[in-house]
Amino acid sequence: MEAHGEPGGGTNATAQQEQAPVFHMEKICKHFGGVQAAIDVSIALRAREVVALVGNNGAGKSTVLRIASGVIEPDSGKLYLDGKQIELHGPREARALGMETVPQELSLAPHLSVAANMFLGREVVRGWGPLRILNKSLMRRRTAELIGGFGIHIPNLDGRVFDLSGGQQQGVAIGRALAWGSRVVILDEPTAALGIEETARVESTLLKMREAGVGVLLVSHNLDQVFRVSDRIYVLRRGRIVGERMTNATTADEIVALITGATTGTVEVGQSGEGVDNGYAQ
Ligand SMILES: Nc1ncnc2c1ncn2[C@@H]1O[C@H](COP(=O)(O)OP(=O)(O)OP(=O)(O)O)[C@@H](O)[C@H]1O
Ligand SMILES: [Mg+2]
Repeated sequence: MEAHGEPGGGTNATAQQEQAPVFHMEKICKHFGGVQAAIDVSIALRAREVVALVGNNGAGKSTVLRIASGVIEPDSGKLYLDGKQIELHGPREARALGMETVPQELSLAPHLSVAANMFLGREVVRGWGPLRILNKSLMRRRTAELIGGFGIHIPNLDGRVFDLSGGQQQGVAIGRALAWGSRVVILDEPTAALGIEETARVESTLLKMREAGVGVLLVSHNLDQVFRVSDRIYVLRRGRIVGERMTNATTADEIVALITGATTGTVEVGQSGEGVDNGYAQ
C-alpha cells in the first residue's frame, strides 16, 4: 500500500471526509420490469478519491455506473456535479462535463482505427470551414503516448479496433477515459481482460489521476485490487447499498460478509460515522 501513497489515508482522511463531493448520486432507483436493480442508492465521490463499488453478479453495480455516466436514466433520484444538480440524457452530456466512463461492455467503434477511437467525438482538425481536415498524425502521436503509458503494445494504431485482442481493446478504452476524464472517471471492471503487468500500470495510472484531483469510481470483482487502490468502499447487495467503509479501516473478510449478506448490512462509515444517506443530501 505504501507504494501508492496513502490510500484512504493517513492525515488526509479527515480532510477528505470534510471535502464536498465532486460528484454524487442521491437516492437513485431503477427497475427493469420486475427487477429492482437500484434502490435508494446514494454514492458520493470526492476529488482526489478512489471509491470502489463492489457486490455480487447482478447486485446492480453496472446499473448504477450506467446512470452515473448518462447511458440510462434513473426512475427517481438525483445526480450532482460540484453540488449542482445535473441531468444526463446520454453519455455525450456526461463527457462534455468531464465525466468519462469505461463500461463493462466495450464501447469502441470496431471498424475505426485505434487513433480514431481515441479521439471519437473530439477529432483534432487543422484549418477551418470547408477546408478542415483531420490532424491524423497528431492524433496518432497522442494515441501512441497515451496507450504506451500502460505498456499495452498495439502494433498498428491505424489498424481497426476489431482486429485487436480483448486486452488491447480494454487498453484503448481505458486510455481514452483517462485522457479525457478531467473531473470524474468511472470504470466497470477495467482490468478484467488485462495481464498482471498491464493491470499494475492501469492501477498506478488511476492513482496518478487521483493525485491530479480526479474522482475515480471503480467497480471491481478483484478485492485485492479494491484494497490496493481504493480509499473508500461501497457494498451493493440486491440493488441496495448495505455498507460503506474506509478501505484502511476494514478487511476483506468484512467486505465479503457484506457482499454475501453474512452480516446484516448496517450503513455506517468506518471512520467518520456518517451515514451514506445523510452526508450529501442537499
Ligand atoms: N437493460 C436491462 N434489462 C433488463 N434487466 C436488466 C438490464 N440491466 C440490468 N438488468 C438486471 O438488473 C440487475 C442488476 O444488473 P447489473 O448489470 O447492474 O449487475 P452487476 O452488479 O453489474 O453484475 P455483474 O457483476 O455481473 O456485472 C440484474 O438482475 C440484471 O439482470
Ligand atoms: Mg456489471
